[in-house]
Amino acid sequence: MSVEIFDTVKGIIAEIEASQPANEEALEQFRLRYVGTKNVIKPLFGEIKNVPNELKKEFGQLLNTAKETAEAKYAALKEQLEGSSEDAGAQGLDLSAPGEPLSLGSRHPVAIVMNRIIRIFERIGFVVADEREIEDDWHNFTAMNTPEDHPARDMQDTFYLQDSLTMLLRTHTSSVQARVMTSQQPPIRIIAPGRVYRNETVSARSHCQFHQVEGLYVDENVSFADMKQTLLYFAREMFGPQVSIRLRPSYFPFTEPSAEMDVYLGTATEKDYRLTKGTGWLEIMGCGMVDPQVLDNCGIDSKKYSGFAFGMGIERQALRLYDIGDIRLFFENDVRFLRQFAAAY
Ligand code: DAH
Repeated sequence: MSVEIFDTVKGIIAEIEASQPANEEALEQFRLRYVGTKNVIKPLFGEIKNVPNELKKEFGQLLNTAKETAEAKYAALKEQLEGSSEDAGAQGLDLSAPGEPLSLGSRHPVAIVMNRIIRIFERIGFVVADEREIEDDWHNFTAMNTPEDHPARDMQDTFYLQDSLTMLLRTHTSSVQARVMTSQQPPIRIIAPGRVYRNETVSARSHCQFHQVEGLYVDENVSFADMKQTLLYFAREMFGPQVSIRLRPSYFPFTEPSAEMDVYLGTATEKDYRLTKGTGWLEIMGCGMVDPQVLDNCGIDSKKYSGFAFGMGIERQALRLYDIGDIRLFFENDVRFLRQFAAAY
């Protein structure tokens, strides 16, 4: 009993100290509750008789502290509030005028599409790996089987940091594969979304900065069939249950065999006809079985483990999804453009 009543008073003191009435009405509420004739502290004085003798003095002092704290705070608040409305009045401000509404932001269309892709893979156990955009040469190129002098480096020219020619802005999210594989052992099942850079002329269809999502799955006995089924699942979740996919042989230094995945959208609508150039097929991503050399480069035993990887650009899918004609719109930060997508997903 005695401890509880002490806590009650301490609670009241804490409440008083934390109170910050913003206007006169709130200040009046404060006065009624803590200072007025029917304040909450007064009846507690009547409890002194129930407190054990040896604690009576301490309890009485605590009550006095509560009372004094309330009075002092009230006086200070009153002065503060009156002062500020006088100041405002002096400056010609009308504090009763309605405030400026806060405008709510909306998600960027690239983020909407990226989140949708992430969610699809999360449902089958992939976890997000978020990595650096400023990378070293080794993780971006060498570990991914693109050593210096490799012709594939020309296709991905990038921006180098001035004071260090080995540090660069990553050209693809594939660098995250190297980051993850050098820091953990299989099973690995990650999805890596993020910004990438290329030294390219900016036009309506390409930009020096864009977004990709990378996927990597490494474990024992991972096969090409696993990859195909995973990517079919993705395509159907993303574009609808009716779509089919096709894998065309391709080349990437870090996968063997490598493929490009196309999704069949058909040519029924004018938009699909245009996007697929009359073929019905839309190219979505690059993929393949992780080259054993890449596993070994990163310290993973390629005799024991195998894996598949894939990487796709986000902007191109967003352009398609929202029928946007110019990639530069994504980077101009014009809210009149950006807020149109808020309710889309
Ligand atoms: N990194 C490649 C690019 O930017 C895309 C890619 C292709 C990623 C095949 C992969 C892959 O993981 O297996 O063009």
